[in-house]
Parts: sequence; structure tokens; C-alpha cells
Amino acid sequence: MEIIAHRGASGEFPEHTLLAYAMAVEQGADGVECDVRLTADGHLVCIHDRTVDRTTDGTGAVRRLTLDRLRRFDAGAPGHPQPVLEFEELLDFALDHPRLGLFVETKPDPGRGTALERALADRLRARGLARDPRLRLMSFAPASVAALGRLLPGLDRIQLVDRPAGTRSGLRRALARPTHLGVNLRGARRDPVRTRRVPDLRYSWLARGDADVEFAAAAGVRWLATDFPDRARAVLRRGAPGTRGRSSR
Ligand code: G3P
Ligand code: CA
Repeated sequence: MEIIAHRGASGEFPEHTLLAYAMAVEQGADGVECDVRLTADGHLVCIHDRTVDRTTDGTGAVRRLTLDRLRRFDAGAPGHPQPVLEFEELLDFALDHPRLGLFVETKPDPGRGTALERALADRLRARGLARDPRLRLMSFAPASVAALGRLLPGLDRIQLVDRPAGTRSGLRRALARPTHLGVNLRGARRDPVRTRRVPDLRYSWLARGDADVEFAAAAGVRWLATDFPDRARAVLRRGAPGTRGRSSR
């Protein structure tokens, strides 16, 4: 099972900053996760929320801010400034670490069609990454996963769902036609029997404690996201129950 640092090593460092990603690598992460949004002027930035209010010293919706304006905000911790991370910079970082996986989650804005997916496809093609096996795309939005399938058919696409089964999850999967499924670990743990039956389950988030890591390994998860990659790595190193002798799917 591979450990994926969720927004970088974001349990200890400011999320979606180069510092958090560098520390994730230091802590032994096999891959990193990021969320991407589109600025008002069509640039891709790594920001989770709809607005910059929680994670920077600025305010406003990302979709209404230009890249130039976002560059003036601080996304770091008090006394340790960090710029808002542009997706291009994260690509540079990932390319500098050839064994690192990159999991890119789209956060599309309603009303902007497939502008985000087209911008992403554009950037990945320009960097020669349209068929790179280290890169995986994902979203909660089935329309986004489906659009990525049309634009970038050579890449893995993960549909995120909160529960391993049920009408909502089934509908999302049917609309998105993903290559794999990603299931919220909370929903998976509530329904372990059906979780083990999901044939294309590969990704899960968010491991918080040792028992989460052990559960995910036993359920056959291949990529496990966590804010604390060092803790998850320690569980795997110890060969805790459920992780012993398990290979990736
Ligand atoms: O890795 C998937 C997970 O990040 C989805 O939830 O809200 O943290 O983007 P969220
Ligand atoms: Ca995410």
C-alpha cells in the first residue's frame, strides 16, 4: 500500500504549500495529493476551499481572483510565509522527484463548464504528462471525471464517493466511467463487508490513526491518503496487523 500525503504533510505544515510537499517527501510519502481550482483569469492553483479565507491572509472566492492578486497572499503559518501554490509549481516539484505519485483532485466551479478540466489537460499535455503513470486524476464531480476521460484518456481517473455502495455512489460511477474508485475511509469503515466487495477500489482518504491504516491495508486499498504520512509509514514499517504481507493491487 502506498502512502499519499493529503495536501502535503498538512497535519504539521500549511496545506498546499511547497513546504508541506517537501516535508511529505522527507516523511516517506509515496505520493502527494492536491486540489486544483481555476482563477478568474484561467490559471490553475492548489487551493481546497472555494475561497482563500481559511488558508491565506486574503479574502474572496478563487474564481473571482486573478493569479496576480493571489500571488500577493500568504498561505504559510505565522512568521513562516509561503506563497499560494500554482499547479505549475507543484508539477515542477513532482518532476524533480521522479518516483513520487501525484494525485490531482479537480474542484470545478458550477457555471464554468469544463474550463478547469480543459486547462488541466492543456498543462499536462504541455509538460508531456498526458500518459504518465505517476499521475492520477480524481473528483467528486462525475461530470469532471467524465470530461477528464475524454480529454486525457491515457491517465487513471478516480471517482470519489463517500460510501462503498448505494444509489448515489452507483450513479456517480455510472456517469463518470472512472478507471478506479476512491472511497471515503469513514464510509468504508462503517461498511467493511461491502467495501471489500468493491472491485475497483484503489484509493481511500483520510487515515487518521493506526487502525485506519490497518483497515485500509486489509481492504486492499492501494493508495491511502493521510495528513500525517510519517505516522502511516510507521504503521507499515511495524508490519501492524492487517498490513503484514499485503501487496498492492
Ligand atoms: O483525497 C480526497 C479528498 O481530499 C477529498 O476530500 O474535501 O479533502 O478534498 P477533500
Ligand atoms: Ca482533496
